[in-house]
Amino acid sequence: MALLARARQLEAEGRSIVHMEIGEPDFVTPAPIIEAGIQALQMGRTHYTPAAGLPALREIIAGDYRQRFGVDVAPARILVTPGASGALQLITALLVDPGSRVLMTDPGYPCNRNFVYLYDGEPVAVPVDAEHAYQLDSATLRAHWSGNTVAALIASPSNPTGTLVSRARMAELLEAVRERDGHLIVDEIYQNLSYGEKPCSALELGDDVFVVNSFSKYFGMTGWRLGWLVAPEACVAPLEILAQNLYLAAPTLAQYAALAAFEPRTLAILEQRREQFQARRDYLLPALRSLGFVIPQAPEGAFYLYADCSRFTADSFAFCNELLETAGVAITPGIDFGSYAAERHVRFAYTTSLEQLQLGVERIAHFVDR
Ligand SMILES: Cc1ncc(COP(=O)(O)O)c(C=O)c1O
Repeated sequence: MALLARARQLEAEGRSIVHMEIGEPDFVTPAPIIEAGIQALQMGRTHYTPAAGLPALREIIAGDYRQRFGVDVAPARILVTPGASGALQLITALLVDPGSRVLMTDPGYPCNRNFVYLYDGEPVAVPVDAEHAYQLDSATLRAHWSGNTVAALIASPSNPTGTLVSRARMAELLEAVRERDGHLIVDEIYQNLSYGEKPCSALELGDDVFVVNSFSKYFGMTGWRLGWLVAPEACVAPLEILAQNLYLAAPTLAQYAALAAFEPRTLAILEQRREQFQARRDYLLPALRSLGFVIPQAPEGAFYLYADCSRFTADSFAFCNELLETAGVAITPGIDFGSYAAERHVRFAYTTSLEQLQLGVERIAHFVDR
């Protein structure tokens, strides 16, 4: 965020900046969703919805799970939330007591540990490497699970690495967590942004998982603040009470707009965008590798490349700052995602046009060549 602020400041001073640090799609929300939002406003849909969300939206989300994955999820198990952020906060509010531990990957999405801290819990950052696709597996989970551990939190595809948890590995993780009477939380926010094998949903493996998702990334609705969670049946009532107390309900306007999110005409637009992200990845991955960044595995999803930059620097934070100040390219240092090997890593986001990415690569090439 500080880096983004500095990039914007440089831009305001007239510098040209290539943005490869931004964690949201550059596309605006698809027109059918915007139209549904405008219509909702004109119809005076400006009051609270039920805390768990509009029944019609919960039905539509359940229908999508049926269609996409062949799983029956009762709409009653779906809670519509203010973004995946709202969902993650509800889950941690429910599961975390003072001293409770939650396992998560390092590198990983930075806010996760703070959600746990918020309830006086203890995030346990588990170092993960490229050879394990930067994801937890059941052996590492077992090694790090202790008496106070209540849950493991994974994201597939992940931020910052774009890597997936395979179905087999997800099943093993779930089994290991069940053996320990714990919970598995799976953040599937980037699920529809995948470029190879279709990622599985944890919901295919059981109804005792917590699954988090969002309209932010694939649907291009970051600013509308809308997501959802699917919870085990027994947890729905307490989660609803938490929602009522913490934020009353997710934004009404966003919920009405999202009713159009799964319409075929919207999905056609989103599929084209997914293809554009894939084309960007297919350009950027070999381009960065040829410059000397090490990206051992081709990431299968999200819009990030997590790269080892140790050929150029032993301090990725300084590298990012210098790259921004000198070459006008903004990327994110590893420290934003944890501490494990952070000084050797940077994250590139391909949330800008192919032309901008090409310009960015040119500038980086000059920068590392100096
Ligand atoms: C892995 C992951 N989870 C959750 C979020 C939060 O997203 P939302 O906008 O849905 O709150 C993000 C945002 O970058 C993310 O990368």
